[in-house]
Amino acid sequence: MAAVALKCTAPWRFVKLRSLVRSTVPSLKFHTTASPMMAATVEQFEQAKSNLSTLKNDPGNEVKLKIYALFKQATQGPCNTPKPGMLDFVNKVKWDAWKALGSISQDEARQQYCDLVGSLVAAEGGSSAQVAAQPAGSGVAYETLLVTTEDGITTIKLNRPAKKNAITTEMYNDIIAALEQAAKDDSVITIFTGAGDFYCSGNDLSNFTKIPEGGVEQMARSGGDLLRKYVKAYIDFPKPLVAVVNGPAVGISVTVLGLFDLVYATERATFHTPFSQLGQSAEGCSSFTFPKIMGATKATEMLLFNKKLTAAQASELGLVTEVFPDSSFQSEVWTRLKAYAQLPPNSLALSKQLIRSVEKERLHAVNDAEVELLMERWVSDECFNAVMSFFQAKAKL
Ligand code: COA
Repeated sequence: MAAVALKCTAPWRFVKLRSLVRSTVPSLKFHTTASPMMAATVEQFEQAKSNLSTLKNDPGNEVKLKIYALFKQATQGPCNTPKPGMLDFVNKVKWDAWKALGSISQDEARQQYCDLVGSLVAAEGGSSAQVAAQPAGSGVAYETLLVTTEDGITTIKLNRPAKKNAITTEMYNDIIAALEQAAKDDSVITIFTGAGDFYCSGNDLSNFTKIPEGGVEQMARSGGDLLRKYVKAYIDFPKPLVAVVNGPAVGISVTVLGLFDLVYATERATFHTPFSQLGQSAEGCSSFTFPKIMGATKATEMLLFNKKLTAAQASELGLVTEVFPDSSFQSEVWTRLKAYAQLPPNSLALSKQLIRSVEKERLHAVNDAEVELLMERWVSDECFNAVMSFFQAKAKL
């Protein structure tokens, strides 16, 4: 796939930009403190521009496009330049991003630009006027995650409801970063949940269709490295980790549940790991945690024979801590979690670490073994054919 470059005023300014044609810029959601009553001053805008150039981490293509669009809107007003041609990919996605801002005023665009840059600076632990302006309970800006800290609870919410919260390569990296941040912040517990009617539909299968220059072997190697790092972030997470399973869960969102400390599920949730159907094999340490939690034969039904469990069945088998009626799920669970977050933080964290320390080395070894096998599976015909069938079936609909 061709790689193109997007120009931005930051250290990461010439970056490879893949698949921008599939960009979902209009659906981007950012935390913003913008208000029609309040607009950033020209000085604040200038300050935000120079803060942008101090960022060390690449915030990702969609955020960079949003920054670009807000800058253009703030300095030139609504987009009224001619639409670039279909083959002028880079200018077309930039134009789309600017156009998507519609008729918002230059003042409003300036404020949103300052807010966005401020939250990126805050995410890197810096300080700026915009950081101070962030309200309590707000969080770091990610493209497809909503991360907030409030009442002693850091919540990591997968926020890609149109794709049932399927996890893209960028999301894996963002989740790792969010977990690292949550481990260090002043929250007591960390919660994982999903936006919309699904908890998560697992690995985004289109990750398999983005073949790098080094071919499928290269794709398998970098996929393996990322997966190892992703699962490691759960194994090493030092505070109580709670899954609030708000709907059906598939694949890796299910397998890592064995590494959570509590799993609360709505009665609507289901738990499905269709690995053999996809020519793949288990990950998330489930080849170790599932037999341990539910016994070898029940784990086999799930991990080899793709059995989908209801929330009640998952609870009977010990994978889920408790199931709640869908109508009262959110209120019951959050009331309980807010009370848990009042407990002494060190006592909770140290007790969790004590319980997990017994098998930590083992879990890392299991993670390594699972990743090795998966890297082989990903280059197999069985896997290739299964992924192609998924997208072909979609195409026929
Ligand atoms: N990877 C890529 N795209 C996914 C996805 C995934 N894991 N899960 C859902 N999507 C996409 C669908 O392709 C669809 O996209 P579209 O609107 O552009 O067509 C959109 O999300 C909504 O999904 P849809 O299939 O229409 O919803 P549904 O309620 O009928 O079914 C699932 C939801 C999750 C059961 C179904 O999408 C599915 O089986 N997904 C694959 C799950 C999977 O195998 N995960 C990997 C496990 S290892």
